[in-house]
Amino acid sequence: MPLVFPAHEVTAGTLAALLIFNSFLFILSCSSDFPDLRKHNNCMATALTPAIYAKLRDRVTPNNWTLDQSIQTGVDNPGHPFIKTVGCVAGDEESYEVFAELLDPIIKDRHNGYDPRTMRHPTDLDASKITNAMFDEKYVLSSRVRTGRSIRGLSLPPACSRAERREVERVVVTALAGLKGDLAGRYYSLGDMTDKEQQQLIDDHFLFDKPVSPLLTCAFMARDWPDARGIWHNNDKTFLIWVNEEDHTRVISMEKGGNMKRVFERFCSGLKQVEHLIQERGWEFMWNERLGYILTCPSNLGTGLRAGVHVRLPKLSKDPRFSKILDHLRLQKRGTGGVDTAATGDTFDISNNDRLGKSEVELVQMLVDGVNHLIDCEKKLERGQDIKVPAPVAQFRK
Ligand SMILES: *[C@@H]1O[C@H](CO)[C@@H](O)[C@H](O)[C@H]1NC(C)=O
Repeated sequence: MPLVFPAHEVTAGTLAALLIFNSFLFILSCSSDFPDLRKHNNCMATALTPAIYAKLRDRVTPNNWTLDQSIQTGVDNPGHPFIKTVGCVAGDEESYEVFAELLDPIIKDRHNGYDPRTMRHPTDLDASKITNAMFDEKYVLSSRVRTGRSIRGLSLPPACSRAERREVERVVVTALAGLKGDLAGRYYSLGDMTDKEQQQLIDDHFLFDKPVSPLLTCAFMARDWPDARGIWHNNDKTFLIWVNEEDHTRVISMEKGGNMKRVFERFCSGLKQVEHLIQERGWEFMWNERLGYILTCPSNLGTGLRAGVHVRLPKLSKDPRFSKILDHLRLQKRGTGGVDTAATGDTFDISNNDRLGKSEVELVQMLVDGVNHLIDCEKKLERGQDIKVPAPVAQFRK
């Protein structure tokens, strides 16, 4: 038998061998690039498998943003054993689709079981629905609601070019100039403001600084600082917009005292007017019905909303049940910074824990009901009465 194969068999056989060899090389190069996540406690490290990495590593979004760029912050920052961070950011709106096989499980993990493939996120900015939102000012010192908004078609802060960042600033600042009445104000560019203006913004606690947290710098968010960053606020200093910090915009409504109803009304009407002014100029916010408003960090998807108060709770905060009560009410506590509150350890920044799958109205009402409950507990403890831990608020997992 002559050792000769028909020509077509040689081609097919060689080709098959070549294909197998090539995919072997591909898998080898992917797996030798797989990050060392053995000491990590973040949602990215939990969700990223070698198979998902191999599948997504060579994909790019239309802006050429890659998976490795998205996860760099989570690779470089292993996280804390008790504090699970997110561990990745989006470079653009499309990141959430192109890298969905990684980002969907991260979103589900971070947002209490919300499934972005099957669930729909509700948006509701009708502040008239909020009830009982005038807090007892013996306890509540200030009230605040913030969110973020991104301009569709421009890369997010981890990925944007200088030109895109300047375009975000131009679009936003031009639109904000159209705000009238109580919302009329002006813009302070971080690079151009006078020393006097800077001092005033520091005194008002409005200024944001160049990010030093490695969570942000490893996500490339401090590049070119302070180019195209700035702060806009109305003349009353109750409506504030940060430009090009962690998000294209951060929108904040706030005032001293306990009138959360008024703060949320201003938040909703201000946001709607800003959106209208931006749309008049041919731009729109990033939004879809599965993920709500699209922001840089997956933890802020949905509403991006954090409604919070500075509240004095000297007795309740010393009660061993305090953390469990907060947990069951889906509230989180942070320390309060700033001159007004630094002197006392009894004052806490209490805000909603959730962002996605519940509407703005639902989240603010949860915060309102929760804070009223905390104040009731504080009053009971003052009178020497006992308090109860409320039943947990239902989550998607339940
Ligand atoms: C993405 O990269 C490709 C290949 O290098 C290039 O041709 C294209 O212009 C880039 N796209 C953007 C939006 O930069």
